[in-house]
Amino acid sequence: MNNFDAGSFVRKGLRGLTPYKPDLYPGFTKLDANENPYAFPREIQEKIYKTVGSEAFNRYPDPMADELVSEICACYGLSPDRIMVGNGSDELILNLMLTFGTGNRVVITPPTFSMYGIHARVAGAEIVEAPRDQEFALVTDEIIQAGNGAGLVVICSPNNPSGNSAAADQIAAILEGCRCPVVVDQAYLEFGGADMQPLLADYDNLVILRTMSKAYGLAGLRVGYLFTSPGIINYLLKVKQPFNLNNFSQAAALEVLRHRDLFTRQVAQITDERGKMYRALQDMPEIQVYPSDTNYLLFAAGDRAGEVYQGLLREKVLIRNFGDPPLARYLRVTVGTPEENKIFLSALRKVIETPGEKKND
Ligand SMILES: Cc1ncc(COP(=O)(O)O)c(C=O)c1O
Repeated sequence: MNNFDAGSFVRKGLRGLTPYKPDLYPGFTKLDANENPYAFPREIQEKIYKTVGSEAFNRYPDPMADELVSEICACYGLSPDRIMVGNGSDELILNLMLTFGTGNRVVITPPTFSMYGIHARVAGAEIVEAPRDQEFALVTDEIIQAGNGAGLVVICSPNNPSGNSAAADQIAAILEGCRCPVVVDQAYLEFGGADMQPLLADYDNLVILRTMSKAYGLAGLRVGYLFTSPGIINYLLKVKQPFNLNNFSQAAALEVLRHRDLFTRQVAQITDERGKMYRALQDMPEIQVYPSDTNYLLFAAGDRAGEVYQGLLREKVLIRNFGDPPLARYLRVTVGTPEENKIFLSALRKVIETPGEKKND
């Protein structure tokens, strides 16, 4: 050992970051990551296996994913010079931060998806927060003020974890007020909320992020895409890894988009279940649940959030615990299959009926 200290070669902003290594709970009812809970349609699976030939393994993938991009164009009525695909939208978020955030200010609106802050720090950006109000609504004036001179503004709509959406006129005001690129992450749009795509016609600084990990059941294959102006695409291409989306994922995403009606049915089942789960949570006096345009529900459990989370783990149910302010009192549960939701609700009832441990004041 030569007493080498890797940390001494790493910039301060990176040294303090905690690696993303969530605990895995095999065999648990998994309602923590907002995935599509239904089995992937067998007919699409078979088509994917048929189209992926042996060449998919020894040859590099199409760097620009042309066939997939054409299908996205057909689905959304956009030209290919406005589209970029990524290895999950996570990769696109990082690329946006590296392109517009490094050495600049990046505005985020907490509480929101944690990866914006993490990727901004990885890219060496300065983070400026324009917090949401008590009801998790965007505070447009503060965003515009913070966005003055910033390199990038990132907004999540519908928002993770609160589940509420921005209105198109709010986003239009932000696009007008902030001259920089404004990202609207619409990862959950299939489940509800206003579609910001019509704004693309008027605002070259708009970037819309979409993912196939949620409604389209491809979380394991990592496919995301974005819509923006050709001017922004030109710069993102300079940062993009050459072969970012592998052959298998390109083929799978293509088949999924060609059969998206099958997923529309799953989305309808999920939103129906969301309504049932919302009403069941509303009936629990200890719980304050928030309306949601997504496939998850945020709820407050007062000062028992940590205890409720641990109690659910004992019942082999995994949901999302935030732990820290401003979300210390909140938990987030993904809407699962009807069976999973029943398991969750009965476990939750059992846990909240169990008296909490007395705290020593
Ligand atoms: C708001 C939001 N954006 C992006 C992502 C990342 O999605 P992907 O799987 O496409 O990287 C998530 C995942 O939870 C999310 O909640």
